[in-house]
Amino acid sequence: MKYALFGLGMMFLTSCVSTTSETLDLEKALSYCDTHVCRTLNELKEDNDSIDYSMMPRNIMASDSRWHCRKADKAEWCGGFWPGVLWYDYEATKNEDIRRQAEKFTESLEFLSKTPAFDHDLGFLMFCSYGNGYRLTNNPKYKQIILDTADSLATLYNPAVGTILSWPRNVEIYGGHNTIMDNMINLEMLFWAAKNGGDRRLYDIAVDHAATTMKHHFRDDYTSYHVAVYDSVSGDFIKGMTHQGYADNSMWARGQAWAIYGYTMVYRETRDPRFLDFAQKVTDVYLQRLPDDYVPYWDFDDPAIPDAPKDASAACVVASALLELQNYVQPEKSASYKDTARRILTSLSSDRYLCGDSKPAFLLHSVGHMPAGSEIDASIIYADYYYIEALLRMKKIDQGKDVLASL
Ligand code: GLY
Repeated sequence: MKYALFGLGMMFLTSCVSTTSETLDLEKALSYCDTHVCRTLNELKEDNDSIDYSMMPRNIMASDSRWHCRKADKAEWCGGFWPGVLWYDYEATKNEDIRRQAEKFTESLEFLSKTPAFDHDLGFLMFCSYGNGYRLTNNPKYKQIILDTADSLATLYNPAVGTILSWPRNVEIYGGHNTIMDNMINLEMLFWAAKNGGDRRLYDIAVDHAATTMKHHFRDDYTSYHVAVYDSVSGDFIKGMTHQGYADNSMWARGQAWAIYGYTMVYRETRDPRFLDFAQKVTDVYLQRLPDDYVPYWDFDDPAIPDAPKDASAACVVASALLELQNYVQPEKSASYKDTARRILTSLSSDRYLCGDSKPAFLLHSVGHMPAGSEIDASIIYADYYYIEALLRMKKIDQGKDVLASL
């Protein structure tokens, strides 16, 4: 019923908004982000003006106007995104107040570097927060925390399979060692650690994970399964299935977005042309099937399309990834990827997707976990994280800088 009503709302939106002929005003978009960061910080203040730095903004439902926060915890995979948003806003504004807030939220996650790995999300948690913090401040304490966390993440690697175990808690119900596509993003912290004083083995683990995933986690058309299940002892691939998508064989939008972002990053770190070729293949199948406004439906194969919810978060992840991938490919393709990224960001920066004054988040219309009925058509913190990351990457390109440089 909720879904049916939502469909009617989306039909109305679809019929009255056209966005992609507009142009992207980067400064305006970044200033909008800063206004919303400041509004969020104000709203997080308690009666005595203090902030509980362990409570991380997670989502705002369509019917709500305030952040729903979750406590930083080993089982709360999104805890690193809000500190990451603050670091990016600090990078954009150079506002020292924002930096102090970024530090405080980041440092409330330190315990995760000292806790045995609960699951694979340590990369999301600690690299979006401490990783950006170290990039911008060179704080040696942050470096050690990232190195410790990378070692912890590596304890989930199974050499018989060749991947990191994503969800130890689900080994029994899935019938073996499980790896989810999202796990590609966590490899970035391993690569970073290996070249910043950590164990060289972390590089090998990341490469093995990426290669094994490339072999088993995709269908012949380069669309991805969300979950791959392997025999924990023999390492044999058992099955591909979904967890958050429409069906085992469907293209779940954010899963494919993680693949695009992940293989682009793996190519950067390895310069192995196999990964560059693969990054383009997983990207092209996604881009070919995008709707007119460049923001995918939550799953490309939901039969309810065009009345299915959109997932702005996937669009943000892909926009950011394309701005890196365009660096590595032939000129014609590079221009096309960059143009598409700009179109995605233009669409996201329109009234259709921006919260505007209605909420302190940046963006509307993301989907967290449709099969569980959770975070459908919501503002979700990771959409905001990858949106501001992509805006900054675009700004760096426009200034002739490397997308990974600091402004
Ligand atoms: N990593 C979980 C998700 O993308 O929803």
